[in-house]
Amino acid sequence: MRKKIVAGNWKMNTDIREGITLAKEVNRLIAENHVSYTTVILSPPFTHLTEIVKSVNLNRISVSAQNCSSEPKGAFTGEVSANMIKSTGCTHVIIGHSERRTYFKEDNFLLNKKVKHALQNDLIPIFCIGEILKEREEGKLFEVVKTQLEEGLFNLSREEFSNVVIAYEPVWAIGTGITATPLQAQEMHAYIRKLIAEKYDAEIAENTSLLYGGSCNAGNAKDLFSQADIDGGLIGGASLKADDFYKIITSF
Ligand code: PGA
Repeated sequence: MRKKIVAGNWKMNTDIREGITLAKEVNRLIAENHVSYTTVILSPPFTHLTEIVKSVNLNRISVSAQNCSSEPKGAFTGEVSANMIKSTGCTHVIIGHSERRTYFKEDNFLLNKKVKHALQNDLIPIFCIGEILKEREEGKLFEVVKTQLEEGLFNLSREEFSNVVIAYEPVWAIGTGITATPLQAQEMHAYIRKLIAEKYDAEIAENTSLLYGGSCNAGNAKDLFSQADIDGGLIGGASLKADDFYKIITSF
């Protein structure tokens, strides 16, 4: 059965002290309430990874990076490799977030290299896809998402693909307070699952966790997560407050 996952993407927020406090608070809420049916992931900035790994119970919380290099090692000043991330104790890495695609011009081919490095280093990629508003308005949303999957993931072997988590994040919903309606999100998630079944097979499609992201919060998570093909969320703003994040974690 596919996993229920709630992942907090802290983006470029918190210094180390604040990050440790936030992680410990989430850890405490989860431990006190014996949450065990949801995979909880914290994704702090690179600088915090080692400390956050030490601050939480890794049986209950997984730690993820927000990005990794497309190269394995060498003269790439400022880059952080998948192997380095793995060595901190992380288990996941977000790849292809729309902010990386937009501000840092990361395209599907580069992202595909990153995915492969992540998998080679035993990290689970959380691969982000989603259309911008104009593409939705022009009715191109399905086409855009299909291309992102085909170019970003569909050259993986069946075995490789079985280790990937996908986050559908309509770009117009990220950080805007405008959430996709549960039906809009479900429609796209069902479409993504269908494409996976066509490319691989029904079993792998059924087992792939598909997360929704984009202004998901404590108030709307339940409606979103109750949809048949929505297996959890990638949470930005609302993951920076432990109480809000905890409410989302328990919204299944
Ligand atoms: P948001 O961000 O929840 O603040 O909209 C989601 C994301 O960017 O992953």
